Amino acid sequence: MHAASRIIVGVTGSVAAYKAAELVRRLQARGAQVRVVMTEAAEAFVTPLTFQALSGHPVRGALLDPQGEAGMDHITLARWADAVVVAPASADFLARLRAGLADDLLSTLCLATRAPVYLAPAMNQVMWHHPATQDNVATLRGRGCRFIGPNDGGQACGEVGPGRMSEPAEIVTRILDAAGGALRGEHWVITAGPTREPLDPVRFLSNRSSGRMGFALAQAAAQSGAQVSLISGPVALDTPQGVRRHDVETAQQMLEAVMAVAPEAEVFIGCAAVADVRPARYQPVKLGKAALGESLPLARNPDILASVTALTQPPFTVGFAAETDDLEARARAKLRSKNLDMIAANLVGRPGLGFEADRNELLLLWSDGKEHLGPADKAALATTLIDRIVTHREAIRPSANTGI
Ligand SMILES: Cc1cc2nc3c(=O)[nH]c(=O)nc-3n(C[C@H](O)[C@H](O)[C@H](O)COP(=O)(O)O)c2cc1C
Repeated sequence: MHAASRIIVGVTGSVAAYKAAELVRRLQARGAQVRVVMTEAAEAFVTPLTFQALSGHPVRGALLDPQGEAGMDHITLARWADAVVVAPASADFLARLRAGLADDLLSTLCLATRAPVYLAPAMNQVMWHHPATQDNVATLRGRGCRFIGPNDGGQACGEVGPGRMSEPAEIVTRILDAAGGALRGEHWVITAGPTREPLDPVRFLSNRSSGRMGFALAQAAAQSGAQVSLISGPVALDTPQGVRRHDVETAQQMLEAVMAVAPEAEVFIGCAAVADVRPARYQPVKLGKAALGESLPLARNPDILASVTALTQPPFTVGFAAETDDLEARARAKLRSKNLDMIAANLVGRPGLGFEADRNELLLLWSDGKEHLGPADKAALATTLIDRIVTHREAIRPSANTGI
């Protein structure tokens, strides 16, 4: 999004409403035109006068205000905006937006706009974790709403956990830089999910990968403007908006799908949990108990990451490592042996994180650096990981395809 963008800042009823004042100032400092819309509850936390003084324009509030609505403001504003950012977004507001309610100006204009809608939630961590909120978030994400945060940390209520509104500087970066298409013109190839290695028509070897991390990465890259090819093993997930998805089952099929597109890609992220081995022989008819025997002859599967980095002009390649112990040493060894540019390592086997979970924690390693990311939900982690790839790739491998 170019700097001279027209942005509506929506403020809802949360203690974090005071941070919206800094958000308005920072957006304006980057050259954006800003109009502020507040919910009634927001006005109990910060006065409209603050935002009027900062933005230089009257703050809109009530939907059925004869003065403010003289010119059908909800439609005028909805058309005027290049982006709408609701920061803070309360749990109540997320629920209203998910339900499609239009009983206040902010929810009505979110329904009426074609501009991207960014949501920066802020709430107590128990409210954030509540299945109702998580369900609302998942549905809104699926409809294309772009979530920024929430971050982990100390909260106004004295608790610690996810629910803190993202810092205004981070929100500005997401809206004006990344979402505006920092990756426009680039092709990113991302693998996700497990592979399934059949023994006979009813049995297979596989693993616990849910595909959520890879799908979150695909969504975040697409939202940053990249053309994304998502090559996925068998998962129960919806395709993120704007992503080209190719479903496969076995490691061999995944390799073929990857090699068909990777030579032209700027970035390859191998997030799939590819089975290392497969049953040595596929039996086209179901094996009876007696025929199964007591051991299963195995064959090694192709190494997709190593095949990509062996290309003459490989894309910038990021691998994933899931380990149960000795995380950093094992991940560094994999980084070197497969000639990767970066590796995101996660300890698996801890409750609530990693495989099959919504949250994760990663140790990101590259030749001369490392950074701990999270714990955070996979969507937030995906955005951060993509940001780190973009930040470090030039220093790590200046020769990589950059899309420029
Ligand atoms: C002191 C106080 C702090 C609150 N902080 C939050 C908050 O951070 N996040 C949230 O979702 N709701 C919070 N609430 C509850 C909301 O203000 C309430 O759900 C309200 O209906 C939200 O309305 P709105 O979404 O129209 O702005 C708080 C309430 C009070 C009294």
